[in-house]
Amino acid sequence: PNEITVGELASRMKKSPAEIIKKLMLLGIMATVNETLDFDTASLMVEEFGGIVEKEIILTDEEILFDDFEDTAEQLKPRSPVVVVMGHVDHGKTSLLDAIRDTNVTEGEFGGITQHIGAHRVRVGEKKITFLDTPGHEAFTAMRARGALVTDIAILVVAADDGIMPQTIEAINHAKAAEVSIIVAINKIDKDGANPDKVKQELMEHGLVPEEWGGDTICVEVSAKKRQNIKELLEMVLLVAEMKELKANPDRKAKGTVIESQLDKGRGSVATVLVQNGTLHVGDYVVAGTASGRVRAMNNDKGKSVKKAGPSIPVEILGLSEVPEGGDEFYVVEDERKARSVVENRKFQEKKEKQKSATAISLDNLFEQI
Ligand code: GTP
Ligand code: MG
Repeated sequence: PNEITVGELASRMKKSPAEIIKKLMLLGIMATVNETLDFDTASLMVEEFGGIVEKEIILTDEEILFDDFEDTAEQLKPRSPVVVVMGHVDHGKTSLLDAIRDTNVTEGEFGGITQHIGAHRVRVGEKKITFLDTPGHEAFTAMRARGALVTDIAILVVAADDGIMPQTIEAINHAKAAEVSIIVAINKIDKDGANPDKVKQELMEHGLVPEEWGGDTICVEVSAKKRQNIKELLEMVLLVAEMKELKANPDRKAKGTVIESQLDKGRGSVATVLVQNGTLHVGDYVVAGTASGRVRAMNNDKGKSVKKAGPSIPVEILGLSEVPEGGDEFYVVEDERKARSVVENRKFQEKKEKQKSATAISLDNLFEQI
């Protein structure tokens, strides 16, 4: 029953009925000890006294995820690699991404204009590669903080005239921690003073032994500016991807990670998500962080409206109730009720955590005063 008498509530809260009655009076509610209070009023009382209401939760995350079954070998199909570009300041990360986009444009994907959604797909022959536009270190720190592993391969850009610098080392460490394969792009080889061999020497000192020297680190000498060896670099990405045997099951409810998000004046919550397993469809009910909703529309990286997105495909989705955070995991649930209950549960847990820490702080203060 969703009601309780004042007396019963008082005893559960270890307060005197008089205290409860007084609080109620302050809220304009006249009640006696035997008066029954509805759930909302009772919760309000508990909260007024700094307590936490253990509300009945319809479905927990775990219950929702019961269908988080393992895919069988037959269900798994090859998927394209997800790549991030990392490296020291000014070593040419942006230029390299531009150069990569250009190679694709000349191959003539209709129009070739890439709309900025935080990630884009590049075609190399018959295959495709998904590039995250977020600078590698940001992508890693934001996403790894939430335990999200989104990338398969990191292209480490090292300027041939500058060599390994502090952020190069940082990038190597991030990539290693995330167990991501590293391909080195030795950039700016068009420059006077470019010394690729010196870069390779330095790489060795950081545990990356170039293939041509007997190790397993692929190094490609490129010039982002002169568009030299870009195709070779992309082919190496595909080669490494092939060795990794990247697979996913396109025939299940979608699951993935939020790459970027924003509140758009006209369109509301706009989130770029990377589908990592399953296929996302327009009309699906989605949960992402504490946002939920039905996917109203989806756009691909070329700004084209699409009806579905399979594994390794980044899409912009419209229709979420709130703006999720980059790095939030998203997944499709059966219906709106499930979506709502997961989000409500999450918000409730968050509130509980906050209240807990608030209580802890006030207790600390109390002891300090004593
Ligand atoms: P941040 O985002 O600031 O960390 O820099 P970045 O790594 O994105 O480097 P960016 O692509 O902005 O390039 C830095 C500078 O190096 C620019 O002036 C580029 O024109 C130049 N540059 C990049 N690639 C090459 C190259 O292959 N050759 C030459 N000569 N210059 C290059
Ligand atoms: Mg840049």
